[in-house]
Amino acid sequence: METLKRLGVFDSGLGGLTVLNEICKYNTGLDVVYFGDTARVPYGSRTVETINRYAEQDVRFLLSEGVEAILIACGTVSTNCLPALKRTFSLPIVGVIDAGCEAALAATKTNRIGVIGTRATVNSRAYERRIRELRPEVRTWGVECPLFVPLIENGFAPDDPITVMTVERYLSAFRDTGVDTIIMGCTHYPFLTETLERFMPEVTFINVGKALSRRLTASFRMPEEKTPNRVSYFVSDEDTGFLEIARRYLDAVRADNVQKVNIEQF
Ligand code: DGL
Repeated sequence: METLKRLGVFDSGLGGLTVLNEICKYNTGLDVVYFGDTARVPYGSRTVETINRYAEQDVRFLLSEGVEAILIACGTVSTNCLPALKRTFSLPIVGVIDAGCEAALAATKTNRIGVIGTRATVNSRAYERRIRELRPEVRTWGVECPLFVPLIENGFAPDDPITVMTVERYLSAFRDTGVDTIIMGCTHYPFLTETLERFMPEVTFINVGKALSRRLTASFRMPEEKTPNRVSYFVSDEDTGFLEIARRYLDAVRADNVQKVNIEQF
């Protein structure tokens, strides 16, 4: 296995930053190219065909930046497109499903696990399938939460009354299920962790980025250099507050400059 130097990370928008932040906490010496498809977010309410087309363009852009491996920091793409992307491209590509499921299985005591995600993620049932492969006796419930991504992308605070009401509305679906663990199957959702935990304090919410960052060594040989990670940021629309939200959220990596890409040309 070659040592990984230049890693491509992508998401439909800001959500992948929650994954990037965790990766930068646990690793050093990385050169990361982050792409957020801010012109076409959200992906999760679109058809699988459209999501596949977008994801292929995202990978082609990252390849043009010389990345050696790809981390799909998006639940929607990981659950709907990973096998097709692996068939189309020859470089190593990793998604967030396996790490998220393993962390949830390690956390549950009731063997009842919830999955929250975009419509496309919940419809794919990919998290549920993986959980059943790993531990067939575990019961799962999937709940789509399509309003979360627009709230986050539009900068609604976790304690804004509209955010709180939306969280309560979606999470009420888990009442009476007995779930003690819920996978935040969309990488945007960790922005809402405190609101989710306040509504269901007895539940462990799994941040798939955190789970993945601790097991990247299973997929890649990580750099041994202790130099700080370097990240270049790209988005597909004029910067509509991306950097500001990134700066507010990221504590493990600096965000000081973002470049615009015409993603349709890839
Ligand atoms: N962060 C993406 C995910 O993990 C958001 C999807 C969307 O754009 O709807 O699913």
